[in-house]
Amino acid sequence: MIEKFQQTIQEEIEKLSAELAVPPAELYEPIRYMLSLGGKRIRPLLTLMACDLFGGNINDSVSSALALELFHNFTLVHDDIMDNAPLRRNKPTVHSKWNNSIAILSGDVMMVKAYQLLSKGKMCDAILPIFNEMAVKVCEGQQWDLNYEQLYKISIPQYFKMIELKTAVLIAACMKIGALLGGAKTEDANHLYEFGKNTGIAFQLQDDLLDIYGEEEKFGKQKGGDIIANKKTFLLIKASDIASNNPYLKEELDQWMSVKTLNDKDSLEKVKAVTKIYDFVNIQKITKEEINSYHLKAVSALEKVSASPDKKKHLVEFTSSLLQRQS
Ligand code: IPE
Ligand code: IPE
Ligand code: MG
Ligand code: MG
Ligand code: MG
Repeated sequence: MIEKFQQTIQEEIEKLSAELAVPPAELYEPIRYMLSLGGKRIRPLLTLMACDLFGGNINDSVSSALALELFHNFTLVHDDIMDNAPLRRNKPTVHSKWNNSIAILSGDVMMVKAYQLLSKGKMCDAILPIFNEMAVKVCEGQQWDLNYEQLYKISIPQYFKMIELKTAVLIAACMKIGALLGGAKTEDANHLYEFGKNTGIAFQLQDDLLDIYGEEEKFGKQKGGDIIANKKTFLLIKASDIASNNPYLKEELDQWMSVKTLNDKDSLEKVKAVTKIYDFVNIQKITKEEINSYHLKAVSALEKVSASPDKKKHLVEFTSSLLQRQS
């Protein structure tokens, strides 16, 4: 089933990409480039799976699923400018391959195209407000993420609110939109939203973990990019909490976090030093426990949904494999 859904998504993306082979190439080529690099495409897949969960016809949710994937890709293109990221999906980011102006404008078109796809989808009057609320929240989360780069420390609740906004609400909206298109009752669609939100929080925790402990070639992004950009990740906040009981460690971590690296050699040194502190406080284990706890929250929301137990099981299997991913 999953393979069939993935194939449908792939075909639809190829169709869309072919339609975008028009001038001006400077505007459309970066979009086609981004789409050609693939990515896991979990958001449209989850939309189709949510639709299918209620016995819906996935043809009714394909254009909304595509809109959600396009919106996600748009946020990535702009996120990479904001995060000064050189690599995405193992290839140069749009702004580094072309330039910032091109990345901004191509991203804008991707967002408009997402709206066009949504408008021609089924139940667009019900879906659009959910999409809009989500899209504003993602921008709020991205702004918190940027604000926090400048702060010395943030709290654990501030962190979780930030990732709920920047990452989890999109996954939650994918589930809810798919559910509604599949004919779910409001109550079930809301449980699926909770399932998606908690899965999304766990997903971002895993992303924070892979930034340090992933293999660059598999993960496709610059190793340690979060440390270099001074991001307030779960790893950093938690390590800093633990270090507060150990003055030597605390001074060491604080000193590294106050360093703004200006070249690759210094960045590498900073990443290495901070990773050593992370290893010392056993941050992988702590983060994995946190991922697991959000996965369990997600599963308990799904249990409340009245739908085929078999299909629910598939959803749990898929999301738990996602939370052990290396890419
Ligand atoms: C990356 O999302 C951005 C985050 C919210 C962590 P994905 O890991 O789903 O990226 P792709 O689409 O598979 O490349
Ligand atoms: C991504 O957060 C959130 C959005 C793109 C909205 P990150 O900045 O951690 O994502 P990656 O690691 O660059 O994919
Ligand atoms: Mg970011
Ligand atoms: Mg980023
Ligand atoms: Mg990240």
